[in-house]
Amino acid sequence: MRGTAGTVGRVAVVGAGTIGASWAAYFLSRGLRVAASDPSPGAPDLLKRMIENAWPILMRLGGKADADPTAWTFHADPAAAAEGADFVQENAPERLEVKQPLLARIDAALPPDVVIASSTSGLLASRLSESCAHPERVVIGHPFNPPHLIPLVEVVGGAKGSPEAVAAAMAFYRGIGKHPIEIRKEVPGHLANRLQAALWREAVHLVAEGVASVADVDAAISEGPGLRWALMGPHTTFHLAGGEGGMEHFLHHLLPAVTSWWSDLGNPAVDAEVQRALVAGVAEKTGGADTRELARRRDAALVRLLEARGPSAL
Ligand SMILES: NC(=O)c1ccc[n+]([C@@H]2O[C@H](COP(=O)([O-])OP(=O)(O)OC[C@H]3O[C@@H](n4cnc5c(N)ncnc54)[C@H](O)[C@@H]3O)[C@@H](O)[C@H]2O)c1
Repeated sequence: MRGTAGTVGRVAVVGAGTIGASWAAYFLSRGLRVAASDPSPGAPDLLKRMIENAWPILMRLGGKADADPTAWTFHADPAAAAEGADFVQENAPERLEVKQPLLARIDAALPPDVVIASSTSGLLASRLSESCAHPERVVIGHPFNPPHLIPLVEVVGGAKGSPEAVAAAMAFYRGIGKHPIEIRKEVPGHLANRLQAALWREAVHLVAEGVASVADVDAAISEGPGLRWALMGPHTTFHLAGGEGGMEHFLHHLLPAVTSWWSDLGNPAVDAEVQRALVAGVAEKTGGADTRELARRRDAALVRLLEARGPSAL
């Protein structure tokens, strides 16, 4: 399967909205050529703007000196974009009835040694590949928004997926400077979105119960454990919380308390009133700032964070 160093020169980016355009900019910065496809008439312009805006940051964050921001083509037909590609990154809308026929069409246009990766946030590779003649090469390659900045990519194959395709996708993402993780069993929402969902469920519960405001629940993460989570995950965090005794001491010392909190966690009914409280809470916290401006500030801060942290976390 193509994916290891030197076997991928051209990537098809099918679906060039928020995620596809960001992926395309990243692939270009790593010296790859991109063939993009999207049915929206505005897509080529959006893609051009995305690449131009992201390029200086991408060059600062490890882009190749000889990378060419203009090395992309645009095709109305996804099969035309796929033709001649060594790797496909699909980023169409999150709907099975859109992605399934699209993947079948891409699959029919490619030799079987080309991996087709879907950016889907939560659909299963087994379902997405149902209409493909070669379901074994379909994998999930789930990025985090914005893919040109966040290193994580979650990789998992479906029931008919081949270990070679997963290994090739892992090698491809690693080779272009991403941090891929392999999920051994497909589960809805993959891994990181499930972790986010678990935390957000409790965050909503705490707001719904009047324990704290939206702003303070947010601060409880961003001014606290969120800072450590940019360096290490929850397991390593608690390994260090155990002092010199590490995880073993932590389990001995604090597990009874943690399990008692687990049994008290909430499962909120997000009714109209709770939804109103969440909308009003974020409006109050952000002072009604434009979300595009907030995203711009977030991305600028992300770059500073990534640069300060360096490539390897603890
Ligand atoms: N937005 C996020 O935070 C995020 C994060 C990770 C993964 N994802 C996943 O990435 C994928 C794309 O999400 P997005 O946020 O970029 O959505 P988006 O709406 O910004 O982009 C989707 C693009 O797909 C195009 N499209 C519509 N029908 C198509 C078709 N038949 N073939 C090809 N393209 C088609 C649309 O014109 C649009 O440009 C989804 O599967 C989503 O779950 C999103």
